[in-house]
Amino acid sequence: MSKYSKIIGTGSYLPKRTLTNTDLERMVDTDNEWIVERTGIENRHLVDNETVLDMAYNSAIKAIEAANIVATDIELIIVATSTQDSVMPSTACYLQERLGIKVAKGAFDMQAACSGFVYALSVADSMIKNNLAKNALIIGVDAMSRIIDYTDRGTCILFGDGAGAVVLSASDEPGILASRIYSDGSYTSILNCDANIAAGKVNGNPYLQMDGQAVFKFAVKALTKVAKELVNDAGCNLEDVDWIVPHQANTRILEAVSKTLDFPVEKVIQTVKYHGNTSAASIPLALDTAVKDNTIKHGDLLLLKGVGAGFTWGGLLVRF
Ligand code: UT7
Repeated sequence: MSKYSKIIGTGSYLPKRTLTNTDLERMVDTDNEWIVERTGIENRHLVDNETVLDMAYNSAIKAIEAANIVATDIELIIVATSTQDSVMPSTACYLQERLGIKVAKGAFDMQAACSGFVYALSVADSMIKNNLAKNALIIGVDAMSRIIDYTDRGTCILFGDGAGAVVLSASDEPGILASRIYSDGSYTSILNCDANIAAGKVNGNPYLQMDGQAVFKFAVKALTKVAKELVNDAGCNLEDVDWIVPHQANTRILEAVSKTLDFPVEKVIQTVKYHGNTSAASIPLALDTAVKDNTIKHGDLLLLKGVGAGFTWGGLLVRF
């Protein structure tokens, strides 16, 4: 049994096409000032002809390279997404094929909306600690533009597309120190996309629906609570945390959580301004951005946390 699992490489990918607040001003009744003040978002990246698999692959090869391993060293693939290219097989199996990994000890998709990455990382951590795999590839990827109604100003300003990946490996050195995942199915109505395919037809609304204020309140409470629990589980304090790497949904949510926790907002990694809410991709995307620009360094104590439809939420305390 491995004592720990440790992140040994990160990668991310954003499509080239952008959608700025000025672009949105031409599409719906909104303005740059309102969007920046209420959300902190200035830009989003959207897929053109790219698939979710393309984005996942592009982030994966960077994480594998950063980990200094080869793709065939990967034994487990978990792809967190709500916008997979096909009903089946999973994105993870398509990715396995594209990466040239002949047989793995498991490849599956994780559906926990914006909490998907923390869910996937927690599951991979426990699988590694139980000796089910040595090297795991965990990806958060979403093409939210597929399920956004670009006539609905309440949602279309918020979301973008992208992917982020990490390689998590068995280690004798401390890596993931604590993890928690939660769900409360009584909140399904405040954020959902309820369409399904049956008998050759799309049934239900294929666009994301959201009660923004209810989501906002839930997110602040859940993210605050899980941060306190994680440091408590690991027997440390919030002052020991070098960086919080949260789900990137809205600057005001991140500021409200920092204030409630009395945690310096300068130590919260914030990339939402550049790409909006990329759902399952947002945490690994923020992590990789901060690693690549040398903000996050080897040995730093990180608190990753996310919240999303379901409602689902959770987090991990990580020695990087
Ligand atoms: O991963 C989780 C995903 N979801 C989230 O993170 C969303 C969390 N919620 C939020 O971020 C915020 O609730 C929003 C940014 C969605 C909305 O901000 P708000 O401060 O809660 O605004 P509101 O819904 O209370 O709306 C205030 C006003 C309304 O007008 P009236 O009724 O006061 O006349 C809205 O119709 O702002 C209006 N409004 C807009 N105005 C310009 C709503 N959307 C827009 C818009 N541009 N895009």
